[in-house]
Amino acid sequence: MSLNVKTSSMISILEGSSVSPPPLWLMRQAGRYLPEYQATRRRAGSFWTMCMTPQLAVEVTLQPITRFDLDAAILFSDILVVPFALGQNVTFEDGIGPRLASFPGVDGLERNRDAWAKKLAPVYEAMATTRATLAPTKAMIGFAGAPWTLAAYMLEGQGSPDQRKAKLFGYRTPEEFAKLLDVLAEAVAWHLIQQIDAGADVVQIFDSWAGGLTDAQFRAWSVEPTKRIVAMVKTERPGARIIGFPRATSQEGYTAYLETGVDAIGIDTATSIGWAAKTLTPRVAVQGNLDPIALIAGGDALDRAVDTILEQTKGARFIFNLGHGVLPETPPENVARVVARLRGERP
Ligand code: CP3
Repeated sequence: MSLNVKTSSMISILEGSSVSPPPLWLMRQAGRYLPEYQATRRRAGSFWTMCMTPQLAVEVTLQPITRFDLDAAILFSDILVVPFALGQNVTFEDGIGPRLASFPGVDGLERNRDAWAKKLAPVYEAMATTRATLAPTKAMIGFAGAPWTLAAYMLEGQGSPDQRKAKLFGYRTPEEFAKLLDVLAEAVAWHLIQQIDAGADVVQIFDSWAGGLTDAQFRAWSVEPTKRIVAMVKTERPGARIIGFPRATSQEGYTAYLETGVDAIGIDTATSIGWAAKTLTPRVAVQGNLDPIALIAGGDALDRAVDTILEQTKGARFIFNLGHGVLPETPPENVARVVARLRGERP
């Protein structure tokens, strides 16, 4: 855990305060909507090269901080680096998204931590360099995919609308599936610890596919593995600060997720942030949930959406973010508009 002389507002929130105006960062804040990202990507040739070349990853991580003065940087990387470390190769095709090699079976996965460390060394190097470059008032965020979301990509081989193959694997071979989630929980906890040791002040666990699960599956496949990850990380690194994002689960799901022991919960676009602020704080901080499409729209609609979120979270432990990631067609000036409005710099 890096020792900042002046702590960032993001860390104050995670340690129990409420801060006004709230700190702000955006999921997928470094990405295709930024011309400077497009330029680096053209130079790099591919997305994966950017992830695995520390100098390039540092450069794109810092781009949205330089342009918008956001309160936190999230390391430029991907959740699929964990399947890659486990020996399942990943490729990214332009305009298609990720493709994974066929699932080798749970016993076919690489379990040796030295092998993981060797494959992911560029990620930790990028983290250390970014933390050293970033102002102490800015928080540095590391992240990983949650076991269920990673299992879904590993078993499907790609993104899918209903995670059918992964669910069928869970229904038909529950013991094998539980074993896979265990291996993933161990690898994810290890990956988060490496990022913390390299300088991450905060880590976020993305459970992007949590929304499609039944209540029982959500508890067994999202809450329980995340609870084990949080316990492993906090046992080994007692000061660790963890944000969980069980995207698009139900209100019952978000409430059950309190059992994981995370310090903050990310709220998706469709869930009421007012409900979350009332129900989940002060036990955890809440983070969210501006509609990424309002960020594309801009203008009065965007201003109203921002103001509504601020009204509904007044006085609560709250971190401003989107309900999901920044979309590629987002005009960068709309991000600047949100930052100005949040900080009270009205034109
Ligand atoms: O938030 C950030 O700015 C940090 C970097 C980051 C990326 N991916 C970079 C990226 C983070 C935190 C992620 C997480 C991630 N990756 C998730 C969980 C969050 C979510 O969106 O639900 C998932 C499911 C993935 C897997 C993944 N990576 C997909 C499905 C895709 C293709 C779809 C898409 O949006 O292009 C990626 C590619 C990817 N990861 C890009 C970026 C900037 C686009 C790459 C490019 O074409 O330049």
